[in-house]
Formats: sequence, structure tokens, C-alpha cells
Amino acid sequence: MKTKKERKAEFKNLLITGGCGFIGSNFIRYLINNRDFSGRIINIDKLTYAGNPENLTDIAVNFASRYIFKKVDICHAAKLKDIFSRYDVDAVCHFAAESHVDRSIKAPGNFIQTNIVGTFNLLETAKARKDKFKLFHHISTDEVYGSLDARGLFREDTPYRPNSPYSASKAASDYLVRAYHKTFGLPVTISNCSNNYGPYQFPEKLIPLSILNALEGKKLPVYGDGKNIRDWLYVEDHCEAIWTIMKSGTIGETYNIGGNAEMTNISTVRMICDILDDIKPAKDGKSRRRLITFVQDRPGHDRRYAIDFSKLKKELDWSPHESFQSGLRKTILWYLSQKKWVKNIKTGSYRKWIKEQYGSQQCSRNQ
Ligand code: NAD
Ligand code: DAU
Repeated sequence: MKTKKERKAEFKNLLITGGCGFIGSNFIRYLINNRDFSGRIINIDKLTYAGNPENLTDIAVNFASRYIFKKVDICHAAKLKDIFSRYDVDAVCHFAAESHVDRSIKAPGNFIQTNIVGTFNLLETAKARKDKFKLFHHISTDEVYGSLDARGLFREDTPYRPNSPYSASKAASDYLVRAYHKTFGLPVTISNCSNNYGPYQFPEKLIPLSILNALEGKKLPVYGDGKNIRDWLYVEDHCEAIWTIMKSGTIGETYNIGGNAEMTNISTVRMICDILDDIKPAKDGKSRRRLITFVQDRPGHDRRYAIDFSKLKKELDWSPHESFQSGLRKTILWYLSQKKWVKNIKTGSYRKWIKEQYGSQQCSRNQ
């Protein structure tokens, strides 16, 4: 088995799944501009409500020779086989998933299909590439570990105790990835990360929802008593951690990624109100904190997440750069500057545009 010192990862044709979503699109932008990577990116995405190719318009134009996009569902095994052989795929970074906990409570079916069956299809296709295949990096979540009380941190050896259909489906996918390494020798790495925030996040998640609602003077729903804790990580720091693991992580290993930024939800929402009041005061001059509304709790709501990322720090010298205060301000400024993007999402016109551009056919922009 190769270790980080022996391994020199050079990927020629990197398949990225779910690259039109929040973290995937940030990762593609990060990687294609990175001097350490000169290969080609093949982005496959089903373009669900969460996938928006507009997140990567600049990349499609400026890197046309190194960036390919195909509208593909990872649940479609035959299409995956075709993509892997047509583009001579030698590595995968797997983001594609149904990602929103509340949706998994209302309708879990797609979570089982995409997160479990889709991951299985990718693993099977990668396995069939045999020696041509160099790495399957699986993007996962800290939610697989369940919930913490006031003390303690999630470590890589913390037992899995998923509590929502979303986290259960991600746990199943992690186990499949692990099994394909142990049983078939597939070269894999896994990362389990805490809550991300930053540009291009779909406004169903707490931070962008609160920013956009506050700007419109709408209510800011806070579940339960607002004292649930999340450990926030700026998305660019996550991208750097993923690439660090892909380049130098030990094959077969799992790495936790976290932000060192534990916050109660109520503090997060209050911070958003205060930053907005500072940058763009409300017309009536009143504080946006008045919009905060406590609502019914999420069923099975995990109380606290907090990550111990000392393995990643010690072995691969990674730590986050952004503080929560500075990252949140940057994020708010980004949403304020992206009027067209926000309008397209809010009015749903991005869906119309996707239909016109891509229809229901498999499609490509650059090839
Ligand atoms: P997202 O919902 O913004 O994006 C998911 C992307 O996957 C979308 O572009 C969607 O169209 C695509 N997709 C969904 N089903 C698909 C299918 N069947 N075939 C192909 N593409 C499909 O999600 P995100 O927040 O960017 O999360 C990306 C990954 O990171 C997920 O695996 C998630 O579990 C994990 N993760 C997210 C966070 C977070 O805070 N957002 C934290 C840790 C881990
Ligand atoms: O921890 C990593 C996970 O973080 C990822 O695996 C998931 O894909 C991602 O969606 C995120 O899950 P959360 O459920 O923690 O994120 P969300 O933004 O939905 O909620 C954050 C916290 O805020 C959570 O405690 C629920 C609460 N919340 C959320 C919403 C949408 C509210 O109080 N009000 C809201 O309106």
C-alpha cells in the first residue's frame, strides 16, 4: 500500500461528480486555477434543483480545452461506463448527492438512489478500469457520526450513528467506498467535513437563506431553541483540504475536516443580521434581529457537531485560513454582489435556462 511519501498523484482526466452544486463548483474553480493541476476536468451532474451550470459559466468559457461538462445521472450505470472510457478517466472526486437534511425527512427516496446506488455505480465503474485507475476520493460529512453533547469532538474513529435519512445514506456510501478498497483494492480516500458556507450555496441552507431573507425583510426561521451547534468551514478552505488529501493522503484512509468555528444557530443568525445592518442598513433603520422567529424544531435534530481535524493537520499540514467572522462577511458581500445569480435562483428562471440549454438529453457545452 502506498503512503503519502511514496505517492505522487498526477491525474490526467479527473471526473468530478456534482460539480454544478455548491462545493463542487467551488472545487472546480479552485482546482483549475491551481498550478499543481494541469489535467482535464470532466464534470458530470444531473442538474437537480441544486445544480446550476451558471455557477461555472466563466470556467466553461476560459478553460474550454480543460473543462468538459456532461449532464449525467450517476444512477445511470451505462452512461457512467461510457463517460469513463470516452474520457479515459483516471481519478474521481465524488461530490454528487442529495444534500439537504430537511428534504431527506420529507422525501428520502432520492437520497437512497443518488447517495447509495449512485455511489455504488461509480465504484463499480472505477473498479472496472483496473490499473488505469489512480484514485476515488469520496466527499462525506460529519453527520455520519451523529450528535455530540456539550463536550467532545468527532474523530476518525468515532462510531457511526447517523440520525437522519440524509446522514444514513451518506454513512452507507462511506461504507461502500471503504469496502471497495478493502475487498477489491480500489485506491480510495474519504473526507468527512463539517458545515460549509460561502459563494454559490443554494439558499435552502441556514446561512444563505438567512442572508437573502434578511435582505428582503422576511422572517428568519430558527429551529427549536436555536442552541444547536455547527462547526462552520469556509468553502475555499474545504477545497484546499480536499485537494491536499487527493494529492498526498494515504490510500484507504479517512480524514476529518473542520473549521474550528463552533457556533450556535442563534448566534450565527444574529451575526448575519449585525453584519448586514452594518454594510447595508435597513430602510427603516431598525436592526434585522427583529426578523428572527423561533419555529418548530427539525425532527431528530442533531444537537452539536464539532470536528477534531488533528490527523489532517499533523499528517498533511492542513488548517483552515478563514475565521468565521471574516468568512461570513465575505459571503454576505458575495451575495450582495450577485444580484443576477440570486434573481435567477429566486424566480426559478435558472431552471428554465437549464431546460432550454440542456433539455432532457445528455448534453455537453464544450465537446
Ligand atoms: P449541493 O446540493 O449544493 O450539490 C449537489 C450536486 O449534486 C448538485 O449539482 C446536483 O445537481 C448533483 N446531483 C444530485 N443528484 C445527482 C445524481 N443522481 N447524479 C449526478 N449529479 C447529481 O451539495 P453540496 O452542499 O455542494 O454538497 C456536496 C457534497 O459534499 C455532498 O456529497 C455532501 O454530502 C457533502 N458535504 C456537504 C457539506 C455542506 O455543508 N454543504 C458538508 C460536508 C459534506
Ligand atoms: O455538517 C455537514 C452538513 O451540513 C452537510 O453534510 C449537509 O449536506 C449540509 O446541508 C449541512 O447540514 P445541516 O442540517 O447542518 O445544515 P442546514 O444549513 O440545513 O442547517 C444548519 C443548522 O441550522 C441546523 O442546526 C438546522 C438549523 N436551521 C436550518 C434552516 C434551513 C434553522 O434553524 N433554520 C433554518 O431555516
